[in-house]
Amino acid sequence: MSQTFTITVLPGDGIGPEVIEQAVNVLRVIEELEDVSFTLEYARLGGCAIDEDGTPLPQDTLDKARRSDAVLLGAVGGPKWDNNPAHLRPETGLLGIRKELGLYANLRPAFMLDCMVGVSALKEEVVKGVDLMVIRELTGGLYFGEKKRYETENGEVASDELIYHEYEIERIVRRAFEVARLRSKKLTSVDKANVLESSRLWRKVVERVAPDYPDVELRHQLVDSCAMELIRWPKQFDTIVTENMFGDILSDEASMLTGSIGMLPSASLADGNFGLYEPVHGSAPDIAGKGIANPTATILSAAMMLKYSFGLEKAANAIEQAVHTVLNSGVRTGDIADNKDEAVGTKEMADKIIAAI
Ligand code: NAI
Ligand code: MG
Repeated sequence: MSQTFTITVLPGDGIGPEVIEQAVNVLRVIEELEDVSFTLEYARLGGCAIDEDGTPLPQDTLDKARRSDAVLLGAVGGPKWDNNPAHLRPETGLLGIRKELGLYANLRPAFMLDCMVGVSALKEEVVKGVDLMVIRELTGGLYFGEKKRYETENGEVASDELIYHEYEIERIVRRAFEVARLRSKKLTSVDKANVLESSRLWRKVVERVAPDYPDVELRHQLVDSCAMELIRWPKQFDTIVTENMFGDILSDEASMLTGSIGMLPSASLADGNFGLYEPVHGSAPDIAGKGIANPTATILSAAMMLKYSFGLEKAANAIEQAVHTVLNSGVRTGDIADNKDEAVGTKEMADKIIAAI
């Protein structure tokens, strides 16, 4: 019996619509090859929604997202809205949808293909074979704690509260053990338990749930040590789980091991199978409308959606394999090309990937 999944598609701003169009073309090919069909519901988020609806996160968008099985997002933002007040800024829509949909687990893979080692700033022997996943807690911690600002006799004071509930830690840690299980069964939990009380609770919860995953090898590491080791010898890591701010920093650090931002996908998962999938890059206003954006990050985000929300692992692997094949054959968009004259455009890159699928 054929399965049907409903996907809310949010093209967004800048290059968002260009890369989303190609990811949708890839999904259409998967429909032809597998016994599955996708119903696409388009909606607005970010700058385009500010212009059309007067708010970065329209109710219609949230309603559609809640009715669907997953959300596929391009990117939001651009200079046009940079000077707007906070409630009329594109990224407010992004933070809002993550919070509203309960997307607490942010998965950021970073991988180095052999044919791409030259793109990294690090030595070939260090980055060759890197394949890791940073899982960042996304809806708690410092970014959501109480913020204060006040005057004293000695000048201004500012504070941000770093707060975690046991249940918030437990659900992300369990998610991380499950993801590690699908990979090479090695999990590093990163904290600052020598200093922070919230980290001591984090470590206690990790220790409590670990016996439920005896097949996964667990290690605790302090965040400063992890930051160093990621640069010194990244191949020691497979899956890393950590709180919001540490994860923000470590996931960006890990992504730069492997070079181009046009290649990197992400997933933000809620309870159950629901998730939002988007490239790590932004709306790239400098190249928007030129047809030269690299669609790979968005296509790989669609592959993550098939794997984590729909359980279509075979189709997801076929897409990832096709991306590897095309890159190995030397096809490059401008952002990753040595010779810019030979670079292909957005559509051509996607067409090659589709042909390889
Ligand atoms: P960006 O990721 O949009 O661009 C950084 C650089 O990478 C630019 O030179 C751009 O041309 C290039 N680039 C990015 N994606 C590419 C792709 N697929 N193919 C080829 N080259 C690519 O980050 P930037 O410039 O800091 O931000 C631009 C806008 O995007 C801002 O309004 C920012 O707020 C927004 N933004 C949105 C995000 C999101 O929607 N999740 C994330 C990051 C930024
Ligand atoms: Mg960041």
